[in-house]
Amino acid sequence: MTETEFEQNLNGLDLTIFEAIPSQSTDDDKRSLLAVQVAVRELVGKSAGNYSYLEIGSYLGGSIQPHLIDSKCESIWSIDKRPPSQPDERGFEWKYNNNSTARMLKMLKGVAEDVSKVKTIDGDTREIAANRVEDKIDLCFIDGEHTDEAAFADFKFCLTVLKENGAIMFHDSQITYGGIADSLKYLTEKGISHRAYVLPNVLFVVEIGDFPLHQDEKIAAMLAENHKSYLYALQDNDRYRRFANRFPFGTMRRLLLKIRGGNVSD
Ligand SMILES: C[S@@+](CC[C@H](N)C(=O)[O-])C[C@H]1O[C@@H](n2cnc3c(N)ncnc32)[C@H](O)[C@@H]1O
Repeated sequence: MTETEFEQNLNGLDLTIFEAIPSQSTDDDKRSLLAVQVAVRELVGKSAGNYSYLEIGSYLGGSIQPHLIDSKCESIWSIDKRPPSQPDERGFEWKYNNNSTARMLKMLKGVAEDVSKVKTIDGDTREIAANRVEDKIDLCFIDGEHTDEAAFADFKFCLTVLKENGAIMFHDSQITYGGIADSLKYLTEKGISHRAYVLPNVLFVVEIGDFPLHQDEKIAAMLAENHKSYLYALQDNDRYRRFANRFPFGTMRRLLLKIRGGNVSD
């Protein structure tokens, strides 16, 4: 893809940018990621020029590729523990086969010959010293272990390496919403100015300091369609309601409600 084609595709939120390496996100999520990238370039372009990106949980590099081919992105930090299987708030272990940094870098080389701006750290943010990230970061993406505890730990790590004004995004917010709620509470307790919202489908964005991505026209248009995020998240979690209504759990719940009288409105 030439630089001009990339600029056109990025501004058109064209998903061909993600074609070379599969990314574990829906098409709406990918469009939201591109819209944030456009807005970050605009905002950072007004002051520093180029931006730096950090990602926790990279797998094959699918969500790195739009930043790798972006000449306005000057550094990419990828932190990934690459465990054989990872705990998950949905109640099961998630397995990633053949998951290695070497494999990711090989795939990224298929996107751009020069991958020297990609710096990798194998590990978990709960064990990594933040000063190993040698750049101050404008945009972080949290997509590692999908537990509340890990999401909150990743968020605090991101806060440490983020510039005074920047943004931190969470993927799969319908899964790690407990960790996201803890993160927002933490910001409020620390008196750190922030604004938070979700973009379709499940990309949760936290603007820190003065970093008004939401004023970008593409993001504003997505926010005006926030029913998409709301319904996607509820429908994705609907399996738990169906489970809770199924025999014998449904029968037990209905019985308890009857005994306690919790199903009566006065
Ligand atoms: C959902 S995948 C990332 C997908 C990628 N962002 C994309 O869009 O293509 C999750 C990744 O998180 C990594 N991971 C699992 N536990 C982790 C942890 N505790 N810290 C950092 N990364 C972790 C896994 O090795 C895996 O590569």
